[in-house]
This record gives sequence, C-alpha cells and structure tokens, in this order.
Amino acid sequence: MAAQQRTEGSALILPTEFPQLKNDTFLRAAQGKETEYTPVWCMRQAGRYLPEFRETRATQDFFATCRSPEKCCELTLQPLRRFPFDAAIIFSDILVVPQALGMEVVMIPGKGPSFPEPLKEVEDLLKLRQKVDVATELGYVFQAITLTRHKLEGKVPLIGFSGAPWTLMSYMIEGGGSKTMAKAKAWLYRHPEASHRLLTLLTNVIVDYLVGQVAAGAQALQLFESHAGHLGPEQFAEFCLPFIRSIAKQVKNKLREESLPVVPMIVFAKDAHYALEDLAESGYEVVGLDWTIRPQDARRRMGKGITLQGNLDPCALYASKEKIEELVKKMLEGFGSQHYIANLGHGLYPDMSPEHVGAFVDAVHKHSRHFNKSC
Ligand code: CP3
Repeated sequence: MAAQQRTEGSALILPTEFPQLKNDTFLRAAQGKETEYTPVWCMRQAGRYLPEFRETRATQDFFATCRSPEKCCELTLQPLRRFPFDAAIIFSDILVVPQALGMEVVMIPGKGPSFPEPLKEVEDLLKLRQKVDVATELGYVFQAITLTRHKLEGKVPLIGFSGAPWTLMSYMIEGGGSKTMAKAKAWLYRHPEASHRLLTLLTNVIVDYLVGQVAAGAQALQLFESHAGHLGPEQFAEFCLPFIRSIAKQVKNKLREESLPVVPMIVFAKDAHYALEDLAESGYEVVGLDWTIRPQDARRRMGKGITLQGNLDPCALYASKEKIEELVKKMLEGFGSQHYIANLGHGLYPDMSPEHVGAFVDAVHKHSRHFNKSC
C-alpha cells in the first residue's frame, strides 16, 4: 500500500529501514509488560500552547498544514524537543476521514471545524464515496508518518490515530461542534438503519486507514470516540461499541494477513464511564480514561489484564507546579505504576503553560521511579 513516496524537495522516503527504537517504555506498558517507570505523553501535545507551534502554523490553513508531510513532521517533533515524552503522536486531525469520503471541511480560526454542507437527509448518504482508496485520499498522512518515523531517529514510538465512527458521524451531521448533538442524535432515533449504514461505511474506511498508518510506520494506534458522552449506555451499546470492536478485530486481522506488526491499540471513549467494563473487553490493549473516573474504580471495574491511560484533568495544569506534582503522585498511587500510561483526561488547551506541561511530565517520571523502588 505505502509504496515509494516522494516528499517536497527531499529524498525518497520509504517505510523501511527505520532507525532502531531507543525508548520502548510506552510500547512495553501498552503491551502489558513491566516498565522501569510510568511512560507519559499528552493528548494535543503538538498544539497551540507551544509558541513554536503557533509560528509554524501561522501562515497556513489548518488542513493545508495537515496535507504537508514536512509540516506535520515538524509539528509532531516540536514537543519532543522540549519535554521527555515517551511517545509522539502524528500531527493530523480526525476530520481528514470525512474529507476522504468526499465532504468539505474547513477550520475556522477561533471557532473550530465547519462543514459547509453537512448531511441533512438520509439520501445525502449517497453523495459520500461508497469505497475509499485510502492510499489516494489519505496518502499524505502516510507520508507524514513515514517521514516522522525517520526523523524521530528512534527516540520514542510514533502513535497513529483516527476518530471513531460515532464521533465522525456526529461531526458530519452537525456540521461542526455542538452542545447537544441534537441533529446527530435525531438520526439515531429516527433513522437507525441509515445510521448503521453510515457507521459501517466509516468503520470500513477507518480500518483501511489505520492499517495504512501501520504500513507507513505507526507503532501504536489510538481511536478517539470523543463524543461518547452524548450517548447513554443503550445507545453506546448499539451505535458505538460494535463498531469500536469491529475496528480492533479487523485491523488486527489485516495486519496479520499483510505480515505487518500487530501494534497495540488504544481506545479513548470520552465520558463513557458507564461502559468501562465493555471497553475493557473490546479488543484494545489500552483504554484511555477521562478525568471523571477515579483510578481505583477503573482498576476495580476493568481488571488487571488491561493497560489504562490517563486521566489528570487538563485544567489541573493551571495549578502551581507543586500542586501538579502532588496530583500526579496521587494519580500514580491510584493506578499503580505498572500497566499504566500517564496522560491527561483530554487534550491540552492553547492557553496552558509549557512549563507546567514540563512539571507534569517530570512528576510522572520522578514519582513512578520512587514508587517502583518502594514496592
Ligand atoms: O494530539 C496531538 O497532538 C495530535 C494531533 C491532533 C489534532 N487533532 C490536532 C489539532 C489530534 C489527535 C486531533 C484529534 C481531534 N480533532 C479530535 C479528537 C480528540 C479530542 O480533542 O477529543 C477532535 C474532536 C478533533 C476535531 C477538531 N480539530 C476540533 C474540534 C478542533 C478545534 C478545536 C480547537 O482547539 O480549536 C480541531 C483543530 C485542531 N486539531 C488543532 C490541533 C492542534 C487546533 C487548531 C490549529 O492548530 O489551528
């Protein structure tokens, strides 16, 4: 799939002969193996809280940046130059998948993503591409991943990602962010069969997209079901869980069939506290948690076989560095330092202080080493 790739003005970049990985702590934790300390990364670690990010992004449209492998690579590497994160996540966006299905999406500065022509009627589904050649439509993401794997020089593993079907469906119907998701939820109640068709179409594209990311060099995958919290347990069971499960199963089968590495997969279903038990058994090695869940409760409800990721309230980074350290220590005591990947419970905000992000990372490393010694 990821054949020879030529990036702007640079040498041929191939998804082969990647530099050897020097820090596998994140991958070990994701695979449920013992680690010397707790690995840490942050959702939205490549983001506007970094002045160098704002500088690189300043002159260009958001999705034009997403389509430039060199820019994506640079933005992915920026946080790694400042902080000893244990993983990198490729700079891109979940909304490149609706674009691949033929929808227009623009990013309006200060407002967020916007679809000029969202899905309104069931008949609008026919306007979507029914089969997507991901190498053609999303090859630029694969190129960004391959380039970044080379430029990372094996420092840490690279995470690829996709939005999950319900979250993408909700954007495609709402046309942007929404407080209630009323339009998208109306589809679930009025047009359950068409909703299933749309979710299945998205699932098929997401599977190929994630497999393509591994072929390009991604060493782990995260699925973002960011809008799970708008659904209750029953709708989650019908419109999220089967598709989340199917994605893990199909991706792993295809990776095996294509003799690609069967990389660890993370599912992050924000605010799906009612579904923790189901998520623990949905075929993912790691479950990401938002901050509304107590670490001890998550461990009790999800058993020992699963690696947990999260879940400090991002707003805790507005506290003093001393307070951040105290909160991290408490979080580590709650999760335990093994089978655990430290992260925030959602992404970093643009007005957060890089210094406080550094304090968070340092506190995880310091206290998990202490914790390991005292056990
Ligand atoms: O985490 C990372 O550092 C990797 C890059 C990444 C971005 N978006 C870059 C981005 C990832 C993993 C995403 C995922 C994403 N995108 C999600 C799922 C995670 C979540 O936050 O729940 C969602 C819902 C989106 C859709 C999206 N993209 C929104 C709602 C916005 C606007 C919000 C805002 O902060 O303005 C974006 C834009 C976006 N995606 C930015 C970044 C760094 C900020 C805009 C910019 O750089 O100009």
